[in-house]
Amino acid sequence: MMLSLVAAFAVFLHVLGVYAHVNNLMGWESASDKPSVKQLGNHAIDLNMESRRAGNLLVQGSQNGFHGIEYDSSTDAHEISSEATPPPLEIIPLIISGPSTNRVDLVFFSDGYLPQERQKFIDDALRLAVDVSKNQTFNTVQPLLNFWAAFSPSNETGIGNEGPKDLGSRVVICEKRTPFGLYRVGTELRGVYYAYPNVGRAACDSLGEQCDYPILLGNDPLYGGLGGDFTVITASILNGPLVLRHELGHSILEVGEEYDGGYAYFGSNAGHDTKDFPWKQWLSRVDQLGGPRIERSVMAMQAYPWTLLNTTTPWSVSFNSSGTYERYSVQLSLAGIPNKGDLLVTLDGVDLGWEPRTAVGMDRWFYNYFSSATLSPGIHELKFSLLNGENLGSAQLCSTEILEYGSEDEFVTEPGFYSLYPTYSDVNETSYRPTNGDCLMRAVTTPNFCKVCLETLWLNLLRNVTFIDDINESCSQRSDSPSILVKTLRLGLLPLAHLRNSDIIPNESYTIFWKKNGKALPQYTNKTVIEIEEDSVGEYTATVKFSTEEIRINSPRLESELTYQVVEPCKDSR
Ligand SMILES: *[C@@H]1O[C@H](CO)[C@@H](O)[C@H](O)[C@H]1NC(C)=O
Ligand SMILES: *[C@@H]1O[C@H](CO)[C@@H](O)[C@H](O)[C@H]1NC(C)=O
Ligand SMILES: *[C@@H]1O[C@H](CO)[C@@H](O)[C@H](O)[C@H]1NC(C)=O
Ligand SMILES: *[C@@H]1O[C@H](CO)[C@@H](O)[C@H](O)[C@H]1NC(C)=O
Ligand SMILES: *[C@@H]1O[C@H](CO)[C@@H](O)[C@H](O)[C@H]1NC(C)=O
Ligand SMILES: *[C@@H]1O[C@H](CO)[C@@H](O)[C@H](O)[C@H]1NC(C)=O
Ligand SMILES: *[C@@H]1O[C@H](CO)[C@@H](O)[C@H](O)[C@H]1NC(C)=O
Ligand SMILES: *[C@@H]1O[C@H](CO)[C@@H](O)[C@H](O)[C@H]1NC(C)=O
Ligand SMILES: *[C@@H]1O[C@H](CO)[C@@H](O)[C@H](O)[C@H]1NC(C)=O
Repeated sequence: MMLSLVAAFAVFLHVLGVYAHVNNLMGWESASDKPSVKQLGNHAIDLNMESRRAGNLLVQGSQNGFHGIEYDSSTDAHEISSEATPPPLEIIPLIISGPSTNRVDLVFFSDGYLPQERQKFIDDALRLAVDVSKNQTFNTVQPLLNFWAAFSPSNETGIGNEGPKDLGSRVVICEKRTPFGLYRVGTELRGVYYAYPNVGRAACDSLGEQCDYPILLGNDPLYGGLGGDFTVITASILNGPLVLRHELGHSILEVGEEYDGGYAYFGSNAGHDTKDFPWKQWLSRVDQLGGPRIERSVMAMQAYPWTLLNTTTPWSVSFNSSGTYERYSVQLSLAGIPNKGDLLVTLDGVDLGWEPRTAVGMDRWFYNYFSSATLSPGIHELKFSLLNGENLGSAQLCSTEILEYGSEDEFVTEPGFYSLYPTYSDVNETSYRPTNGDCLMRAVTTPNFCKVCLETLWLNLLRNVTFIDDINESCSQRSDSPSILVKTLRLGLLPLAHLRNSDIIPNESYTIFWKKNGKALPQYTNKTVIEIEEDSVGEYTATVKFSTEEIRINSPRLESELTYQVVEPCKDSR
């Protein structure tokens, strides 16, 4: 299906690496959240402008005549603001559950893969698709999804390390000659941006129904990504799946962040009113008045230094504690520090015992230290001392935070508890989330959504998918009496409930009702195949109701109906 790419195409205000670098824990940004993006140059956008290439010359045509610019054959330039032709695309099915007309299609597009790296791209894309849909994250909704890989060869491998240059006249030039011009800014493991959104749009549009969520996959081994019209990810073994899940969460669930230090908290997982919030149906416990409880915590410190560490002077931060919270945690994210012993992290001089995640290499990772001790009232100091100078220039402290919590009676840390958990924005404004750390929209190293997000995932995907794929009519031998031919209607349903062919079967069911010419046919209730003995001609209606433990709110999207006309009886039916 085609989602709102047409609408997206109208939004031409695309930026070249000038998204405000908002400080937040994740460090990648959502293009669609940005209220103010800079328009390239002062050019009005002319949809009728045509562009074409002649050798190394990019020629732009307009009513006012032609003007051309030359560019070096060792580089490549793109006009960013008019319609582009899609790059050559080879479509490879990865995980397919059914026809694109009745599925939500996610497509990985390649960037920075040479022709001889085609297989690496397919392997990278398949690994990511499997990771997010096989036994976690999207596994229960997988029958609603198709995953495809779309290969376009690049002339250079990898992604750029500097933003594209504006050559004027809406023409930009990128460091690397790749189809979508992916790049990060410098060595900072944070956002990965695209220079040629119009090429991305043309690529997705050219696939029609087969592209609902385009994902630009950059051939780069380290952390980075971006949400928005396109989900941008890298092939990082550790972080690729993590960024993919989180960014698809933004795109499909239409929710903001759940982690602290962000600036956009909205959608089904964000509450701003303790009396009115979107997950009442999931609360684990209500107070005597039937209301929710607010879990007791405070943010003592948050910082997003994105700073390179050195061996001369440690990076440190001081913060106050009121001393009235029983427990606390220290969170940090680091990049470019591969070995234990390379870094010492201390709180008030006491070693936190940091060691890198297994196989992290130079990639970014997130660490969380929980303490059941009470911080004393007054000032504390958290200090990061780089001990090994080998990785000077890449050893980076990305983010750090200190949270304080009440006792387990006041703040439930147990997974699976649904309540009102305070979330602190970049300016320490409080909103609420449903769980402490169950959701990948907060704790990105968690592979799953919380139940609130999962329910929204189902309902949003079901906007564009019906439970009935097709209905087929035939004249078949009656199952209990093969000599007799009977009219048979065979309903093709999404492989959910008892039709799932996976090990993980949530508590779910289909209820099927049949009618003929408006009159109920109770003998066929719950049957996907019906054999009609007499008078088969007429109008049949099948109503399919779906129920799953993962959806608690009522929605018309849980029911599909299909009407089918039988125009002639079986030749020798009686
Ligand atoms: C899910 O699959 C991944 C990789 O296939 C594996 O590492 C992980 O342990 C699995 N998780 C569960 C809960 O089975
Ligand atoms: C790669 O180079 C060829 C020949 O110069 C050019 O036609 C093509 O557009 C380039 N592709 C990319 C993605 O830059
Ligand atoms: C955040 O706000 C709370 C009050 O809502 C305050 O107690 C806390 O000290 C603030 N944290 C910081 C780091 O300013
Ligand atoms: C070393 O890091 C500290 C803490 O971030 C910083 O203040 C100092 O300027 C850095 N020194 C050099 C030489 O970069
Ligand atoms: C700690 O709190 C005291 C008293 O409220 C205040 O004077 C001081 O500036 C605070 N220090 C820090 C590092 O926030
Ligand atoms: C998908 O669902 C949305 C919301 O119901 C609707 O506006 C849109 O037209 C649907 N698109 C398709 C292709 O069905
Ligand atoms: C209906 O027929 C089509 C075409 O032969 C087939 O692909 C589909 O699986 C059939 N559906 C059912 C429910 O038998
Ligand atoms: C399955 O769902 C039904 C209907 O929601 C419910 O009555 C039943 O208790 C559930 N069974 C289990 C094992 O959760
Ligand atoms: C049809 O299936 C639903 C869901 O499993 C079940 O609750 C209902 O009792 C069934 N009805 C009949 C008539 O079998």
